[in-house]
Amino acid sequence: MPDRFGSVAFAYGRFMQVTGLTTSFGRTIAVNDVSFSIDAPRMIGVIGRSGAGKSTLLRTINRLTPATSGQILVDGRNVLELGGAAMRRWQRDCAMIFQQFNLVPRLDVVTNVLLGGLNSHGTLASMFGMFGSDRIERALHALERLEIADLALQRAETLSGGQQQRVAIARALVQEPEMILADEPIASLDPVSAETVMTALRTIHERNRLTVICNLHTLDTARRYCDRVLGMLHGRIVFDGAPCELTQDVVREIYGTEQDIDEATTSTSLTAAAPVRLAHAAA
Ligand SMILES: Nc1ncnc2c1ncn2[C@@H]1O[C@H](COP(=O)(O)OP(=O)(O)O)[C@@H](O)[C@H]1O
Ligand SMILES: [Mg+2]
Repeated sequence: MPDRFGSVAFAYGRFMQVTGLTTSFGRTIAVNDVSFSIDAPRMIGVIGRSGAGKSTLLRTINRLTPATSGQILVDGRNVLELGGAAMRRWQRDCAMIFQQFNLVPRLDVVTNVLLGGLNSHGTLASMFGMFGSDRIERALHALERLEIADLALQRAETLSGGQQQRVAIARALVQEPEMILADEPIASLDPVSAETVMTALRTIHERNRLTVICNLHTLDTARRYCDRVLGMLHGRIVFDGAPCELTQDVVREIYGTEQDIDEATTSTSLTAAAPVRLAHAAA
């Protein structure tokens, strides 16, 4: 069944259908009977209050956290049932980006990026520093795309937060993923860095035709960069639509009624700018 966000051919990504996905921790149902499908590369923002289940949803999709029940069908296969090499392959196919970057602080930038290709490369060869020159070239190319190639030999810990997050995105890219799952990628960043990182994710979505699912704690960011928004409340998806369909009533439902939502107070953007729509470029 096509999703209702257009019928663009799914050039490089794959159809994904999530059905009845539930993830519990003891009595806490973090993700509660969640269903949605993606039939074309999308830039999807997941919004909701702290504790709504956003991180658990991404972690369950990536198999970092075991699901309690439900299905995630990708090309007709339930990825929740994959084991061993097939599961690791899936984890590589949906690269994760975290709020805290998760780089190795004392290693230089290019080595951090090369670590992204570890799964596919053979751990031993990588551990002895024998990355092939083609891989190094790819890593440098990824850094160039994120406009930080000049930092390649600097230790990760010397970089600003925004630069570190761009390294993490470059590391995800060399995994050659089909999807990027970003868990609050800009929550620790200043507004200028946040814009750079969101623009980088949007550009990758458009140029590589990848689905990006991005947990965001600010509404204006979701409106500005995403073409579809999932709103979560108590583990459930209570909104699935285009940003323009996010009315005040919907926003109040997602964030709760006890306070009026002032988007400016939760804003990470420099200005309340118009949505960013980059031109589609050739891959
Ligand atoms: N590893 C865990 N063990 C126990 N409870 C957890 C764990 N991870 C998340 N939770 C709980 O699941 C719910 C959803 O959390 P989370 O997915 O982190 O929400 P969000 O990312 O929207 O803030 C919360 O009640 C949280 O306390
Ligand atoms: Mg979270």
